[in-house]
Formats: sequence, structure tokens, C-alpha cells
Amino acid sequence: MARHLLNTSDLSTDDILSIVQHAHSVLGPALLEQPPTLAGKRIVLGFFEPSTRTRLSFETAAHRLGARTSLFQPTGSSVEKGESLLETMHTIDAMGFDAIVMRHSVNGTHAEVAAQIRMIVINAGEGTHAHPTQALLDVSTLVEHYGSITGLRICIVGDSLHSRVARSDIDVMQRLGAEVALCGTPELTLSNVDGIAEVFDHIDDALRWSNVVNLLRIQRERRADSEMPDIEAFRSRYALTMAKLAAYPEVRVMHPGPVNIGIEIDQDVLMSPRSLIHRQVTHGVAVRMAVLHKLLHLDS
Ligand code: CP
Repeated sequence: MARHLLNTSDLSTDDILSIVQHAHSVLGPALLEQPPTLAGKRIVLGFFEPSTRTRLSFETAAHRLGARTSLFQPTGSSVEKGESLLETMHTIDAMGFDAIVMRHSVNGTHAEVAAQIRMIVINAGEGTHAHPTQALLDVSTLVEHYGSITGLRICIVGDSLHSRVARSDIDVMQRLGAEVALCGTPELTLSNVDGIAEVFDHIDDALRWSNVVNLLRIQRERRADSEMPDIEAFRSRYALTMAKLAAYPEVRVMHPGPVNIGIEIDQDVLMSPRSLIHRQVTHGVAVRMAVLHKLLHLDS
């Protein structure tokens, strides 16, 4: 495995399977019985964008393994006095942290930082480019549910164009043998992606084809207000309602979160037994434990 985790391309298919296997071994009661393999390690959580799931699950994962964490956020820091990102990183590096788990809105930031500092860099979400641990937790959830994802038909529905999750999911899911399709308006949908099985422009067509639909919210923060679709028009073609889901009883529902209830998904779908969404969150802790262990345990 590479020294940093910047993108899914840093992981071989064997690395992915090994992380999923490791994550499954720490789910359930075993989660509380893990040896503190990262005792003495210090990890900084550098979040330059909001997060609930990723930040808390990395923090929980680190603590479960005995590591200590510190939170860095730009608000209240010397970034507000004009300090550059790289100087901020050199400053954190000089304090002796072993790793930084970093989220940033600008594509390329993680590789730029990794090239200049000693700490291990773990990507916790980068612009529209990559969210590797989200893809790992998504396939971990699917492997638990289905046993294997080889041949599974997964349709990513919604704003794939602005989604780092979509890019990372497509790579990891395809490498594990899934068929991946996209569904969305032309202006919201990734194009020129190798190996995409189908492109749909109505969620009914996606549901008819799929074993799993993976819903995405509209990434408002990465779009100009003038580019926002009309929400009612968007809902009529792309939102998953219980009435639509009921017609396809075998289909399961995923969403990386945060969900926008009443836009791409309804509350009853989120809470339905057909939804794997909260199970994805549980896998987030286990997968991040596996990733931290693999990157930091043997690092000296
Ligand atoms: N899926 C995801 O990255 O969620 P957060 O923004 O809450 O971390």
C-alpha cells in the first residue's frame, strides 16, 4: 500500500479487499475489543470543509486504536490572518503529528501537501476529485449485504458531475466487478467515464435496471446558484420516493450523506428496511480503523 491515501488509485484491488476484510473483522462487539495498535500515534483532523460522518468516524476510529487526535479547522486559526495552506501544513508537521486526515475543497491540494510534508496524508474528501474512504465504506457495506459485489448492478443517481464520491465509487466498484450506471440530467451527469454500463435520465429506468441505487445530493456548494436545477422538475425525474421504490422490491438504497430530505430522497425511504444508509455510516468507522491501521501501524 502507498504511504499516503490520496485517491483510490493508491490502492491495489488486493488492498481494497484486505481493507474490507479488516473492516468486517472489527464490526460488532469486536469493535470494543481492538488492541491499541496505534497507541502513541498523533493524528490531526484538518477539515477545511464541513463534515459530520467523515470527521467523527475518523476520530472514533483513531481513538478505538489508541491514537490521539487534534482538530484543526480554519475558522479561528491563523488562516484567518492570511497564513497560506502550505505554511499551515508545515506548522502542523513541525509539531510532530504522524498523520493528517484532510478535507479540502480544491482539487490537487492533497497531493501538493503530501509532496512537501513528512506526515502521512489521508484524503477525507477533496473537491470534486476523490473521497477514497467513502468508496471503501460503500463497498464494505455492499460486500456485507450481498457477500460479493461481482456482477452487482449499481446505479449512481443525481449530481455525479460535481461528486467526488461518484468518481471514487465508480473506480472501486468496477474494480471489484460491479456494473455501474449513472442517472441524471445531462448537465448533472459525468461523461466520458470508462466502463459505464448505462446512462439513464429517469429514476424509474434506473430502478428497473439496478440491484442498488446510490443517491447523491445536488452539490450546491460546487455550483453557481444560476446552475441549480428547478427542484420540482428534478424531483419528478430523479428523487426516490417510497411509491417509486415499492415497485422494485429487490432494490436496495444507498446514499453517502448528507441527505437532503424532500429533494433527492424522502424520509420514509431513508428509514426503510431497504435502506443501507445508516449501515454505511457504521462501516465508515470500521473501514477507517482498517485504513489507519494499515497506514500507521508499521510506520515509524
Ligand atoms: N459522506 C460524507 O463525506 O459525509 P460528511 O460530509 O458528513 O463527512
